[in-house]
Amino acid sequence: MPTPSEPTPDLGLFDAVVNLCKRRGFVFPSAEIYGGIRSTYDYGPLGALMLRNIREAWWRAMIQERDDVLPIDAAILTNPKVWEASGHLATFTDPLVDCRKCKERWRADQIEATCPNCGSSDLTEARPFNLMFKTFVGPVEEDSSVAYLRPETAQGMFVNYLNVETTMRRRPPFGIAQIGRAFRNEITPGNFVFRTREFELMELEYFVPPADSPRWQQYWCEERLSWYTRYGIAREKLRLRPHDPEELSHYSSGTTDVEFLFPWGWGELEGIANRTDFDLRAHQEHSGTSLEHFDQASGERYIPHVVEPAAGATRAMMAFLLAAYEEDEIAGERRVVLRLHPRIAPYHVAVLPLSKKDTLSPLAREVLHRLQRNFMCEYDETQSIGRRYRRQDEIGTPYCVTVDFESLDDQQVTVRERDSTEQTRLPIDELVSHLRGRLDI
Ligand code: GAP
Repeated sequence: MPTPSEPTPDLGLFDAVVNLCKRRGFVFPSAEIYGGIRSTYDYGPLGALMLRNIREAWWRAMIQERDDVLPIDAAILTNPKVWEASGHLATFTDPLVDCRKCKERWRADQIEATCPNCGSSDLTEARPFNLMFKTFVGPVEEDSSVAYLRPETAQGMFVNYLNVETTMRRRPPFGIAQIGRAFRNEITPGNFVFRTREFELMELEYFVPPADSPRWQQYWCEERLSWYTRYGIAREKLRLRPHDPEELSHYSSGTTDVEFLFPWGWGELEGIANRTDFDLRAHQEHSGTSLEHFDQASGERYIPHVVEPAAGATRAMMAFLLAAYEEDEIAGERRVVLRLHPRIAPYHVAVLPLSKKDTLSPLAREVLHRLQRNFMCEYDETQSIGRRYRRQDEIGTPYCVTVDFESLDDQQVTVRERDSTEQTRLPIDELVSHLRGRLDI
């Protein structure tokens, strides 16, 4: 139950956003012409653009604007010994129960004593179910060729710790970051793209001297919370929640989640974990390679501790969409508007010739080509101008540029702003600098 100071969850919002995602080309059920596959989605043109913007916003904050974090791009399929050492083979499990009556399967920790499908209480004992997808490398399906799709990108950074430290001449504190697909055979995926079996992770492993990890964990909690507000999510829709001891992952001595107020209640967007030296120590033991750091200043030798902010890009996309969705009224007409941050919105600018007539197209296309060198643009010349504005509002485009018949004479165009719907007339030559200043990109 929300406390009186918290906003109330809005269940209608979920349906509205899911509907918009399909209708406007953000997210499609995967392989829909074959009936889809449960809880698996394809990102359409607008979803692909938006996901790319989320990745770039994360990359900007975590890598570009810092001098202590380096990127890598590790393989999805790797030596299975990695997963043995990391503990994922033994402990990356969820408790699975079967309903003996309707045969549905559930995560024991997510249901009460009865089956949510048929209400039967005739459930099996919970048993551990490993979430890693198994495959075979090479043509022979035998035990020695088993490999796993990575369930987190983090291990690619731990096994490359030494490579990065030495080639890039770093010493703690410093971080390694990466963005990439991860795969988990979730027992109960659902809530649209909130929980899927294939999703995108954006992870930082920040290596620090052991005594400094609590301070760095606090630091990363604040940093990550402010990343979401920087890109448009209201502070009151976010909170930090420390895990109870029984919730902690096998590698964590303490985790705090950044949570968002989803339509069904608070849900995790990102976890900031203190992984201690769990992973590097395990890889040192299993590989026989020393992963100790020698601090020349103090003469100390230690295995670095790791603070890990791990965010889901696909889940963040859902949160950004939910937070941006609004219905308002403009001149007595209802409209849907996505008040997305310009860096997150699929398009920055839409170029709209007032009429489809051939006389306007050459100038409109010239304006488009000028803008395309600087911004992600859409060109739309179909339907009435009012309907085209509505469509751009609905997909979150911050600015529309309208080319009309007067533009042919005065070389000026009209710029319409999404949120206020205010219109400004200005020379085509000033368009790029005007929009650059407004868009802050
Ligand atoms: N390396 C640590 C790690 O993977 P996690 O809490 O399991 O931590 C990090 O995952 C983030 O990835 C979550 O906060 C969530 O945003 C996202 N995530 C996890 N499982 C997901 C799933 N099945 N579908 C979509 N996103 C998921």
